[in-house]
Amino acid sequence: MSLRHYLFPFLMLTFSATCSAAATVAAAKKQTLNIQEAEFFNPKLPPRTLSSSKKFEGSSNLVNLRYHMGPVLSSSPINIYLIWYGRWSESQKLLIKDFIASISPSAAASSPSPSVSEWWKTVSLYTDQTGANVSRTLVVAKEHSDTGYSHGYHLTRLSVQQVIATAVKAAPFPVDHRNGMYLILTAHDVTVQDFCRAVCGFHYFTFPSMVGYTLPYAWIGNSGKQCPEVCAYPFAVPGYMGGGGPGALVPPNGDVGLDGMISVIAHELAELSTNPLVNAWYAGEDPTAPTEIGDLCEGLYGSGGGGGYIGQVMRDGKGRTYNMNGNKGRKFMVQWVWSPALKACAGPNAMD
Ligand SMILES: *[C@@H]1O[C@H](CO)[C@@H](O)[C@H](O)[C@H]1NC(C)=O
Repeated sequence: MSLRHYLFPFLMLTFSATCSAAATVAAAKKQTLNIQEAEFFNPKLPPRTLSSSKKFEGSSNLVNLRYHMGPVLSSSPINIYLIWYGRWSESQKLLIKDFIASISPSAAASSPSPSVSEWWKTVSLYTDQTGANVSRTLVVAKEHSDTGYSHGYHLTRLSVQQVIATAVKAAPFPVDHRNGMYLILTAHDVTVQDFCRAVCGFHYFTFPSMVGYTLPYAWIGNSGKQCPEVCAYPFAVPGYMGGGGPGALVPPNGDVGLDGMISVIAHELAELSTNPLVNAWYAGEDPTAPTEIGDLCEGLYGSGGGGGYIGQVMRDGKGRTYNMNGNKGRKFMVQWVWSPALKACAGPNAMD
């Protein structure tokens, strides 16, 4: 699988909604959403530092997302085996675990719309050839803290698998073929092959020769100290924009690296669940460079996005930007994903 499809491209989607129309709808919608102190806006930001050759001009006819007969993660719940690689603070761990916990419908009762669990509903529309849907429920089944940096401060794509192998063999983690996905999160002081230059996260599956089993996994790094303008966009924007250009948005949880990481985690979880062995849902003819349901909507967070606009999102009384609610009163900013029903990018904060 090439790296190319994990690039965070300068978004080329174009949508026909105009700002003024969206603002009118926003004003009407404000009350129905019952978000008292929130205002809606759709900022134009400078392009990301990374760009790719992928161009989806918004017309859904150009996107040929197809099913390639492989499995999706349909067993419920999806068990996430979480590896904290490097040093993480308890509050950082809590933030990420609160996000993951917000995905499952049980959280919906405590999360007002637009919610993270509504966002995952789009992911659960994907099915396999037996008609089984992607599971609605994800749980953190087990955690393992690798505070000793067992494989060093620099990981390669292969040593990421060794980190999983270590965790599986040391047996804090079972080999969970039926429901498992393995998630490696690296701390801000860990560099990873191609991190920041070409990728912010990736998903794949382990090889029997490396780990002993074929297990779907994903890696996401904390870019806060290394390249927030690349991987924590739109909470950091390229430095060359300096004065005069549009500024970065204020992250909902006060942590540029972590808040940016949440959207990348969401992206990878959505793709891993719909394409765990890279033979299920993707666009493009080349299975070594598949374009998946998150790739198709990168940089898009609301209605009326595209052409440098991130779309209609919310801003609370303290200026913090978000587009969906989680449990415990958390707010998150999460990119949209491709809907097989709408044949377009979709999210719970859509204005129509
Ligand atoms: C399963 O997927 C089908 C096809 O996208 C959809 O119509 C149905 O609502 C989904 N069911 C659930 C429980 O998500």
